Amino acid sequence: MSNSEYRQITGIIVGCGNRGQNYAEYARHFPERFRVVAVADPRQVVREKMQKLFSLEDKHVSNDWRQFADPSIERLAECALITLPDREHYEAAIQLAKKGYHILLEKPMATKPEHCKEIVQVCRDNNVLLGVCHVLRYLPVVKKIKELIDKNVIGKLISIQHIEPVGYFHFAHSFVRGNWHNENESCFSLLAKCCHDLDLIQYWMQPRQCVNISSFGKLMHFTRDNKPQGASDRCLTCAVESTCPYSAKKIYLEKPNRRWPVSVVVPDIEEHEGWDEIKVKVKHALETGPYGKCVYGDCDNDVVDQQVVILNFDDGATATMQMVAFTEQVCQRTSRIFGSHGELTWTGEDTLVHYDFLTQKRTIYDEADLTSAGIMGGHGGADFFAMDSFIRALSLNKPELIGTGPEDSLASHLIAFAAETARKENRVCQINEFA
Ligand SMILES: NC(=O)c1ccc[n+]([C@@H]2O[C@H](COP(=O)([O-])OP(=O)(O)OC[C@H]3O[C@@H](n4cnc5c(N)ncnc54)[C@H](O)[C@@H]3O)[C@@H](O)[C@H]2O)c1
Repeated sequence: MSNSEYRQITGIIVGCGNRGQNYAEYARHFPERFRVVAVADPRQVVREKMQKLFSLEDKHVSNDWRQFADPSIERLAECALITLPDREHYEAAIQLAKKGYHILLEKPMATKPEHCKEIVQVCRDNNVLLGVCHVLRYLPVVKKIKELIDKNVIGKLISIQHIEPVGYFHFAHSFVRGNWHNENESCFSLLAKCCHDLDLIQYWMQPRQCVNISSFGKLMHFTRDNKPQGASDRCLTCAVESTCPYSAKKIYLEKPNRRWPVSVVVPDIEEHEGWDEIKVKVKHALETGPYGKCVYGDCDNDVVDQQVVILNFDDGATATMQMVAFTEQVCQRTSRIFGSHGELTWTGEDTLVHYDFLTQKRTIYDEADLTSAGIMGGHGGADFFAMDSFIRALSLNKPELIGTGPEDSLASHLIAFAAETARKENRVCQINEFA
């Protein structure tokens, strides 16, 4: 679609952290398609940054999303991008949908199944579109896999093996020290990290329905029992730091970096600041904040660092999904899709390999799409495609352009809730228990 075919969509962004600022990049690069008219965030430094970036009036900059849901003020835009912490999603989605905003909602939709269902219902009742940021679905290579499955290129779909390698330092950063370290503060790690992966499996398996699920896993490594002898509570003063791969010194100070994960540790990096100045801020944050703490028992973390999920579908097809912290690769998913007449292998790049059992030939599909190059790099370009689809759906009033709409997103969230229940209760769960 060319630029002239887009109608400019106006939006508010609630939660201007990592994800909110990433989606805001779309407006910076395509102002004729999307205009940010208001933002909310309790952190002054990010509010000021966004206000300057989008020349916002003071009254359209708030420290709390609730201001924009207030029934006594007018609706400011057509859509709301909800990029708040996990536990704020439910209330914000309900209230902003009731106010008439179309909703682009970060995953997880909510942290309880009944809340996810209510969000879908309220969006329906208020006639607003809902897109959930299961961004990986929008990757061209992911769509290609679906197309090949549906064309029976591998014969009858029998089974899927999928792995999400979180990455050893990424896990320590986000799920031991960071935002998603504690279930009560955010949510369980399968929902936080792998609702994407369960969504992919569900998407590729459609129209089959998942019927039952089992799951195993626990917090194996990042516990007090594994604290090395002589280790102190903070990496900067630890006598055995040099022997620890999870040392905050190694993760945040070893090489110059102003982007993730350093930008999470120090959210107020100014554009003019060089590494020497940034380093001073990082050191201070490591001395005083959560990102400098020992990963062994000092972070109040309780989410599992490895989990497997086994899914059974209504025609007997099966899938396994494995999430594991202890990998060199960072979120470079690998999927193997087994059919009666062939196999597809995806190793997280833009390419896909098809092996045909009859001809014994290998075909390589290259699905690289540079549309988003340099704009929104997140998730290999998937963030761009997700945002663009949402904006186009609103522009053309075509909800079907949202690849991750209410029903599909709810279904994959329910799979995650069922899997976690199966793990915690050590039993096979029927998906019907959650439907
Ligand atoms: N789709 C994906 O692949 C993906 C990737 C990472 C994170 N996420 C999800 O996106 C969401 C945001 O993650 P993030 O990494 O940007 O986190 P973040 O902490 O960087 O951003 C959240 C922002 O919300 C702000 N906030 C908190 N309370 C608020 C309130 N009452 N009103 C307005 N703003 C408020 C915080 O100050 C913060 O700036 C989370 O739910 C996370 O799980 C999704």
